[in-house]
Amino acid sequence: QTAQQVNDAGHLVIGGADSVALAQKFGTPLVAYDVSAIRQQIRRFKKVFESNQVNYAVSYASKAFATVGMFQLVNQEGAHIDVVSGGELYTAIKAGFPMHKVSFHGNNKSREELEMAVDHHIGVVILDNFYEIQLLSEILLEKHQQMKVMLRLTPGVSAHTHKYDQTGQEDSKFGFDIQSGQAQEALQQVMSNPNMEPIGIHAHIGSQIFEVNGFVMAANKLVDLAAEWQAHFGFETQILNVGGGFGIRYTKADEPLAPEAFVDAIVKAVQKRVSEKGLKMPAIWIEPGRSIAGPAGYSLYTIGSRKDVPGIQPYVTVDGGMGDNIRPALYQAEYEAVLANHANEKPVETVRIAGKYCESGDILIQNQALPKSQPGDLLVLNATGAYGYAMASNYNRNPRPAVVFVENGHAKQIVRRESYEDLVRLDERFV
Ligand code: LLP
Repeated sequence: QTAQQVNDAGHLVIGGADSVALAQKFGTPLVAYDVSAIRQQIRRFKKVFESNQVNYAVSYASKAFATVGMFQLVNQEGAHIDVVSGGELYTAIKAGFPMHKVSFHGNNKSREELEMAVDHHIGVVILDNFYEIQLLSEILLEKHQQMKVMLRLTPGVSAHTHKYDQTGQEDSKFGFDIQSGQAQEALQQVMSNPNMEPIGIHAHIGSQIFEVNGFVMAANKLVDLAAEWQAHFGFETQILNVGGGFGIRYTKADEPLAPEAFVDAIVKAVQKRVSEKGLKMPAIWIEPGRSIAGPAGYSLYTIGSRKDVPGIQPYVTVDGGMGDNIRPALYQAEYEAVLANHANEKPVETVRIAGKYCESGDILIQNQALPKSQPGDLLVLNATGAYGYAMASNYNRNPRPAVVFVENGHAKQIVRRESYEDLVRLDERFV
């Protein structure tokens, strides 16, 4: 979300390092993160809460990009994390992430996953459904353990975003429904369980959101419910968790709000409503994923083949594609690219950026203005840090890219590039 930096050689600069040098050293396709952008974003979120003197947690939604190195970085910045699988939790354990700062989401956590959470004494399990309450209560009984819990609620607020990215509307697969009394029933079950300590309520309304309205509505709903539950059940909510979903800039057409704008609106709304309702001010938790990892990430590709046919827009093909970034194919997501080894040159044509995967739908960018390019040039896609590598696959048996963290011109590999040997490591012979 900051202006592109270009060095004297006319090369795009990422985290203070020459992108061409990064590609040479680590190969392509490569994912490079500007570490200071990640730090800055976490600090900005935290600062708004601190200047409002509100208790809070910024919990990085690690589904956006969960690796050992990322968890270590997030921990350096003092943020919490949320995980949604045993695999993400395992990664956090391997990273030495403080378990009391981990919250566990998901609409079908398995017995094994919940046992892992209990065994490692994570901070809080965010309960999603009645089956899970039952499972967790059995596990806690068997293991003579206690667990803090939050209830995930469906607030009936739907965000204006892509259908797959909406989660707060009433027919969502996530969370306890408020209208039907489900949420209330869940609270009673949890309150009557001696091994569960309910500490808060949670709502997540969706992802890639560009306005504060939905957050304010959801926050108000949570406060109203907290007031009702305090009056009826004597339950005092310590934490209101309003989820993530803060939108970022992928292309010039996107006009995201600053982190400050979102958090400030949420904090002010909660403060107002809480005082109207005569409640004690709870802590406010947020769960940004995309807005922390997204803008900081860049995908570096080498340009290869090209197809020109009169009457069609040329295809310029790179050495990656839907295997390292499924978002254009899955969500019609849009990105912008830079010809990184000629970053100061003026565009002369508009092309399609195609991936190398055997599918017509593997087009990373439909309309990209570019200077004249040739095989071997470096093409860099912006803002690919969230849900890019995290959703990568080995489709067509392509190895997944390496990932590097770059800060002050210094690059450190945090994920090794997969080898062909890695690709067959789980395969077993049939004959
Ligand atoms: N909290 C909860 C409970 C969530 O379900 C999510 C995202 C987040 C936080 C983080 O949302 P964020 O701040 O990253 O928008 N693969 C899709 C996005 C799926 C988001 C799922 N839940 C994409 O690439 O657009």
